[in-house]
Order: sequence, then structure tokens, then C-alpha cells
Amino acid sequence: MTVLIAIIASLAAVVIGAFLVVVYRVSRTGGVSIAGYRISRAASGPEALPAGLQLVIDAIPAVVSCKDRDGRIVLINAYTAALFGASPAEILGRRIDEFQHGEVLAGAVALDRKAIDSRATVGPVEQVDTSVDGKSRTWLVTKVPQLDAAGAVDRLVTVAFDVTDRKRVEESLIRSANDAEAASRAKATFLATMSHELRTPLNAIIGFSDMINAAIHGPVGSPKYQEYARDVAESGRFLLSIINDILDLSKIEAGQMILNAQPTDLAELLQRCSRLIEGRARQGSVELMVNTAENLPAISADPRSLTQIIVNLLSNAVKFTNAGGEVRLDARLAEDGAVEIAVVDTGIGMSEEDIATALRPFEQIDRGLDRQHEGTGLGLPIVKGLVELHGGTLDIRSEPGEGTTVTVRLPRDRVIVEEPASSGGAPLRAAAKASDG
Ligand SMILES: Nc1ncnc2c1ncn2[C@@H]1O[C@H](COP(=O)(O)OP(=O)(O)OP(=O)(O)O)[C@@H](O)[C@H]1O
Ligand SMILES: [Mg+2]
Repeated sequence: MTVLIAIIASLAAVVIGAFLVVVYRVSRTGGVSIAGYRISRAASGPEALPAGLQLVIDAIPAVVSCKDRDGRIVLINAYTAALFGASPAEILGRRIDEFQHGEVLAGAVALDRKAIDSRATVGPVEQVDTSVDGKSRTWLVTKVPQLDAAGAVDRLVTVAFDVTDRKRVEESLIRSANDAEAASRAKATFLATMSHELRTPLNAIIGFSDMINAAIHGPVGSPKYQEYARDVAESGRFLLSIINDILDLSKIEAGQMILNAQPTDLAELLQRCSRLIEGRARQGSVELMVNTAENLPAISADPRSLTQIIVNLLSNAVKFTNAGGEVRLDARLAEDGAVEIAVVDTGIGMSEEDIATALRPFEQIDRGLDRQHEGTGLGLPIVKGLVELHGGTLDIRSEPGEGTTVTVRLPRDRVIVEEPASSGGAPLRAAAKASDG
């Protein structure tokens, strides 16, 4: 756009018998901008239009005009004259205040003043104008002052583009973005409230069915009832875990999940996660191993979220590995100082397409109602969100029938560097991030 303005301003300068020197600046990214203008008058008469040039500027679908020191129009193209319902010949020699009034005139005069006082190009700036057929138009206006030999402003070139349509699209895009944001906030609030409302009765269901099962206030009439009570409690816990997942994901998506980062012993946390899954692995006859490097450092992370990440990945690995298979939890310090935690399984694996599906909320690869594995498809999106909240990345490599490796990389600034003993400071110091939120 700036280049176009420069071309039109040059043309206008040529038409009124002047030279326009434009200094362009090329940015590192390859963009071109205008560093400055200078217009100097040619020796020929100012009002003598070179033949044919009026035709050329008339072809420009933008405002092109030029005023002299007294504010009289000495050059105007057909597009601009048509806005005032006249031809260029009818307007030449007249002043703009004969055509514009009120706020629109005040805006134009203020911009002229700015260019004259600064003796420098002003704009492009947006100006709203309602003077033509009562419709509101937005113009992108540039004023280019032309200096005489003594450096005083002799002429003022105006170039303006009608950007009304572009502006309208821009505003509707902003409005849609705001609406989408409001809808997402409303969804997050609704889910948070609903989850809270559901959790309260669910906790009562789980608590009382546990009490019946444990026969706290005396024996239960039939052992069958005790079994039912156990099922009720188990189903309640399962439902509660789904509600918690929905709440977590909606919080992550709405940017409302706050990490509570603290110095965390990673090796110990991984052992704890493995113990949580041990029972399920044994049930499925899957061998579960933990393999953490000796030099594993302490990290600054939210232990609850990190546990959620690892437990989700381990439970997937165990769930999607057939009896006799293996699941390994590896952790090491990478060469670049980042921490890498990998969950490796010898299970059913996924194709490239399946991986993309698995990362989308509520999506599972085996969608049939006769699905062999239970779950809601929220685990991986939550894991991805939590890893990214830690500034990390999630990488999934998989081969159908061969197995899957999911790697969580936590950046180097999560690693807590141990102070040398002589410094006498606190024993642990986070390299960068101590807490988030
Ligand atoms: N280790 C894995 N091996 C093979 N397939 C996997 C593995 N991990 C995930 N998947 C596939 O990706 C899908 C999505 O996983 P995700 O953890 O998001 O959901 P889920 O385990 O089905 O349910 P949820 O975790 O909510 O209980 C799974 O249904 C499964 O098809
Ligand atoms: Mg899962």
C-alpha cells in the first residue's frame, strides 16, 4: 500500500510539474516501506499539465488532489471530483471548504495542518467521512507536502484510498473472534459449574456405597447387596474421573489452568506413577519397568499435573498392550539440557492418521460401540495441554502392531541447577522458572 501511495504521489507531483524523491527502506524480512519523501518544484510552470497526464490520474481509483498555499485545488482527478458530484474542471481553483463541512472538513484541515507544520509526510492514517451520499466511508489518507527552494510548504498532495469494505471485513473478523472467545469462556464457566454440581452428589453416592459395602452400621442383609454397593462405588469413581477430565480439559482450553510449579524430585515422582499403574499392568499380564538415568535432576514442575501426564500415558500403554507385552518408563537428561520422559510399549500401535485423531478431544481410534477398551478419549489432549503449559512438547511415534513411544520433553529451564557448596546459598535453584501462573 505504501508503495502505491508513493507511486500516486510521484505521479501527482509530475502532473503539477515537480520532482518527487522517495527514499525506500527494505526491511530484513523483505518488506518495503517509505523512509521519506522530498518534492522539489521543476522550473516549468506549476499549473501546466503535461498532455495526457490528467487522463492517467483520472484512471486512478483513489483520491488524488493537490492544493496550493492558499488552499486552492490546483490538481484533482476524476474519481475525487465525482465524490463532490463535479468534473475536475469545475473544481480546479476552488477551495475544499466549498465542498466539505463540519467534522469531515475539520478532520481534513487538521491533517493538512500537521503535514504543513511538520513539513513531512503524514499518514497513511484512517479517516471516517460521511460527506458523500450520507454513507460512512473509511479513507486511508496520506498527505505529502511539497517544499519550495526556501524549504517552505508550497503545495500539498493528498492521496486517499477507500478502505470501507476492508475495514468492515476487519471489524467482522474481530467481532467473530470476540464472540468465539466469549462462547469459549461461557463453555468453560458452564463446565466448571456443572462439574462442581455433579461432583457433590457423586461424592455422596461413592461415600455412602462405600459405607454400605464396609457394613459400617451393622451387617447388610444379603452379600449380593454388598456386591451391588461395591459396583455403585466403582461406577461412581469412574464417572467422577470422567467429570474431572472434562473439567481439566475445559480449563486448559480456556487458558484457566494454573500450574503450581515447585521443585520436584522427578525420579521419585516417576516411581510413584508406576506404582499407581502396577495393579492394572499385573491384571493385563503386561510387564511394567521403570528406567531412570542416574543423573536425573530435580525439576520445577507442577507435581499434580506431571503425575496426571505420566499416569495417563502409562495407563494408555498398559491398556493398548496385549498380555505378554512390555511397558517401559524411561527418563533421561538430553544433550541440550532438556529432560526427556518416554513411555514405550509393545502394544497395538497407531498409524500416522490415528495419532492425529487420538490427539483431538473425545476422539478414539476404535469408535465402535463394541470397543474393547474403555475411556472417553480425553487423556491425550489433556496430556498435550499440560505438557505445553510446562513449555514442553509431546512427541508420539508409533507403528501399528509394533508399539508406541510417547516422549514428553520438558525444556532446559525446567531443570533445577544445584548451587556449588561454597556459595552457601539455598541448595536448589531453578535455572529460570520457579513458579508459573
Ligand atoms: N499407547 C497407545 N497405543 C495404541 N493406541 C493408543 C495409545 N495411546 C492412545 N492410543 C489411542 O488413542 C486414543 C486416544 O487416547 P486417549 O488417552 O486420549 O483416550 P482413551 O485412553 O481412549 O480415553 P481416556 O484416556 O479419556 O480414558 C485411544 O482410544 C487409542 O485408540
Ligand atoms: Mg487414555
